[in-house]
Amino acid sequence: MRKAAREVRPNEAQGGEGHTGGTVPSETGVAGMRSRTKPVGDNGDKSSALDPRPVIAGLTLRAAEMRDCRRILAWANDPATRVNSFTSRPIGYAEHRCWFEAALASDQRWLYIAQVKQIPVGLVRLDQEYAGAEVAEVGINVAPRHRRKGLSDPILRQIRRIAGARGIHTLVARIRAENEVSIRVFERAGYRFVAEEKTQTGLARRYEAVVQIV
Ligand SMILES: CC(C)(COP(=O)(O)OP(=O)(O)OC[C@H]1O[C@@H](n2cnc3c(N)ncnc32)[C@H](O)[C@@H]1OP(=O)(O)O)[C@@H](O)C(=O)NCCC(=O)NCCS
Repeated sequence: MRKAAREVRPNEAQGGEGHTGGTVPSETGVAGMRSRTKPVGDNGDKSSALDPRPVIAGLTLRAAEMRDCRRILAWANDPATRVNSFTSRPIGYAEHRCWFEAALASDQRWLYIAQVKQIPVGLVRLDQEYAGAEVAEVGINVAPRHRRKGLSDPILRQIRRIAGARGIHTLVARIRAENEVSIRVFERAGYRFVAEEKTQTGLARRYEAVVQIV
């Protein structure tokens, strides 16, 4: 078994962007022990049909909501995130809000907040090429203060299960060639290198994983 995820403290929950709703639990969140005992309480219509069970104790994914708007922007504007994105300029609030509202309303883009005992620790995104497509792109952004705690692997495993429940059979990750950490994380999660693709801002390495339909 991989190393246990390190402790996530409740006062780290808001990602520095101010309180955006929801209750920060008083307990100390610990994601360390693998468990399949507790179903996720997914919020929102988009995920109500799904029952993604956690593969690490205390780690769950829930559908993103409007109250997550600012925290997601703060995570997105983290310098390391910008460097690893295909457009590296900082994102303004108005632009982000527009994108976020469209994403919440979309029937082919799905945003999930990863939580450890209700503490938001990251964002994971599924983008179908078109509504109903069997191929979707996955993107992950672990909240800056929760990086290097071993969260990426269980998050990617959970999103794979969610994708399977949505009838998606192939997940695609496009990773900047320079993003060695991300390449390692996706390879470890079972993604295989397929091709290099040119983007407007550099080379992307395309990785794919076959999803078991559930
Ligand atoms: C890439 C990312 C998702 C990794 O998530 P994470 O939860 O921090 O990663 P983990 O803690 O699970 O670490 C995975 C491995 O990478 C290593 N690692 C993580 N961050 C690292 C860093 N900055 N430098 C060197 N190694 C690093 C860890 O030590 C671990 O290796 P090990 O298991 O051999 O010890 C996260 O750093 C992130 O969100 N980055 C910004 C956005 C991004 O690049 N997204 C991917 C775009 S495709």
